[in-house]
Amino acid sequence: MGTGSGFGKTILFGEHFVVYGLPAMASAIGDSTEAIVEIEEGKGYELIDNRPEVPGYKKKKFDEQKISINNVLTFMGVDLEKEKLKITLGGKLTCASGVGASAASCVALARAVNDAYKLGWNDTQINEAAYEGEKGYHGTPSGIDNTASTFGGLVYFVKNLHGGPNTMETIKLSKPVDMVIASSGMTANTSVVVADVREKKEENPKWFEKIVKEYKSVAKDGRHALELMNLEQVGKLMNKNHELLQKITVSNEKLDKMVKIARDAGALGAKVTGTGRGGNINVLTPGAELQDKVYNALKTAGYAAWKTKIGV
Ligand code: MEV
Repeated sequence: MGTGSGFGKTILFGEHFVVYGLPAMASAIGDSTEAIVEIEEGKGYELIDNRPEVPGYKKKKFDEQKISINNVLTFMGVDLEKEKLKITLGGKLTCASGVGASAASCVALARAVNDAYKLGWNDTQINEAAYEGEKGYHGTPSGIDNTASTFGGLVYFVKNLHGGPNTMETIKLSKPVDMVIASSGMTANTSVVVADVREKKEENPKWFEKIVKEYKSVAKDGRHALELMNLEQVGKLMNKNHELLQKITVSNEKLDKMVKIARDAGALGAKVTGTGRGGNINVLTPGAELQDKVYNALKTAGYAAWKTKIGV
């Protein structure tokens, strides 16, 4: 038997832009997905998925999950013709678009396989296996989700568009910062949304280039502001990032409404996080009092919400 775990994540700056080689920042969140792998006699695998979810998430992702599991197992050299695996997924991370649920399950599975077969893989190799798994969910992932999910902490990430190693730096904060994550309850399909943004970019390159220009320094400035703990500035940059996500059409009425509720309750910044067109928003709420206020405002308005911290 082997066990493994993968962190959930939240993207602070740069979802979608990261796909085109622009810098982005993500942070692991406290909740994680846990996997247990048992090697049995027979062929193929049996999946028991006990992860908590927003309604409908697991059903909607089931076909992608099958490809993802096969990708991870093939990459790690497991031969399902020779033996059977019983895979059990659980943990505290609620599966919803935007919290890195797919990446967390890929990392957890890769770690559990590593443990079950005593492969001795290090985090870099686990991350590579999880990246293969992520391809099942979104054909051409940037790799930011599996990287944050594997290594944890606060990550500054730039995808290498030439196929070489990506840039990955772990950022240390002088103290953790409180955040709230809230779910629209809508499950997004990352590959569809990423492909649609790409299509829009190709149809109108000048329009996209203009938005990229506005985005260009957001993640770098955000990183700098975080390192200085200038949280007012971090919030402003999150708001700016949300505006740019609206422009590339990945926000929607519901997400904009949630962002407004959070800001009206005093949040320093609020934005779509992850794929968009559903999924989650993340909200900068330093201090227990502000965090409670924003959390309660979103809950009262009927949204599922979680309190978390970045830079732990
Ligand atoms: C999804 O969590 C983040 C996207 O930028 C896709 C990716 O980076 O692969 C939308």
